[in-house]
Amino acid sequence: MPESTFSYDVCVIGGGGHVGLPFALICADSGLRTVIYDVDAEKVRRIRAGEMPFFEEGADEMLERTLASGRLTVEDRPEVMSECRFLVMIIGTPVDEHLNPSFAAIDRVLQKCWEHLRDGQVLILRSTVFPGTGQRIQRMLHTGGKRIAVACCPERVAQGHSLREFRELPQILSAFDAGTLAEVRGLFARFTPEFVEMEPLEAELCKLMTNAWRYIQFATVNQFYMLASDQGVDFERILHGCRHNYPRMAGMPGPGFAAGPCLVKDTMQLAAFSHNHFMLGHSAMLVNEGLPSHLVDLARKQIDLGDATAGILGMAFKAESDDPRDSLSYKLRKLLALEARAVLCTDPYVPDSSLVPLERVLAESDVLFVATPHRCYRSLTPPAGKVVIDIWNCLPPTSQEA
Ligand SMILES: NC(=O)c1ccc[n+]([C@@H]2O[C@H](COP(=O)([O-])OP(=O)(O)OC[C@H]3O[C@@H](n4cnc5c(N)ncnc54)[C@H](O)[C@@H]3O)[C@@H](O)[C@H]2O)c1
Repeated sequence: MPESTFSYDVCVIGGGGHVGLPFALICADSGLRTVIYDVDAEKVRRIRAGEMPFFEEGADEMLERTLASGRLTVEDRPEVMSECRFLVMIIGTPVDEHLNPSFAAIDRVLQKCWEHLRDGQVLILRSTVFPGTGQRIQRMLHTGGKRIAVACCPERVAQGHSLREFRELPQILSAFDAGTLAEVRGLFARFTPEFVEMEPLEAELCKLMTNAWRYIQFATVNQFYMLASDQGVDFERILHGCRHNYPRMAGMPGPGFAAGPCLVKDTMQLAAFSHNHFMLGHSAMLVNEGLPSHLVDLARKQIDLGDATAGILGMAFKAESDDPRDSLSYKLRKLLALEARAVLCTDPYVPDSSLVPLERVLAESDVLFVATPHRCYRSLTPPAGKVVIDIWNCLPPTSQEA
């Protein structure tokens, strides 16, 4: 890092979040003087106390180590930004009630930061943003008389595994001039071996297309699952036939809930960018968001739901996660609540006071839905006589199937 007049190298704006916090940890761990800035005072308190606010592989130990080293500082005062060379913005970028991108969050941050921005800083946009956002922010800064360079380096890690993936995956880097690009390359080179460099608009689209591609792949296989299961055909056998020793299908995913805070939201951002001509994206949303309802239909064919207690295993949006954001398990719960006598939900990781212990769900439910394929369910044998809807093929085969 070149000599500078800044007290800190990096400020992570939104540094208490699911991707901001691991990013701040990897920066501090690579020797950069790093500040977490977050508006959530409770998260700031917990992180300062050395407590991770959510599960992230390897993070507890790294948080303790970087705090002890003095290289990690945690702040809820925006003033701290003026002391930092690189400002890395990783706040949430939701879509609004019309499924259009909402610029409010980014605009709010900029308003809050404005008086603390200093000439010579580099603002790195790491949130997933609507294409053209980097250009818009750069224009706002320049029009407002700020000599601040903008870079767009979207985050691509899988939540929960970020610390490993920062060191393994190529980073997408872009900036509006070669000097800034060289500076961000120097920053990321502290922990990442490989880069893909492109123009800012390309980088923004690359991130959205990566997520939309995955979302569409999941939708394709989910639709295949619906076609087969509607006819009473075991989709697992088809999946095996498609993939077995057939390299062209090796990448075919299995069926399951495609949910969480990114995939659908980013597909809808791309749809908005295409002026709603991204037909594949919208179709994927209809399939993936329709899956809970399909599972309820499958159950209805086997049991009178009005007279049954339904149990849902897993409320996190993906396996081994404690994050329930935009989880389709909650959509399934809503649908079942309209029809079943009662609904009981469980998850070993999600902190939600409405959940009950697994043993109770197993004992009291007539029909069980495996909604999140947590590892702990892979050895679970439900009591005899229960209807089981297991789209993930997560539970072990019953003795009859084996
Ligand atoms: N979650 C993922 O797996 C993932 C992966 C890659 C990219 N992304 C993208 O990264 C971005 C962040 O996602 P996330 O899941 O970490 O969100 P998050 O909600 O977990 O974290 C955002 C953080 O920003 C803070 N924040 C909000 N407004 C702020 C402000 N004005 N000033 C300072 N801090 C503020 C919040 O308190 C929160 O701690 C999104 O654009 C998302 O699409 C997420």
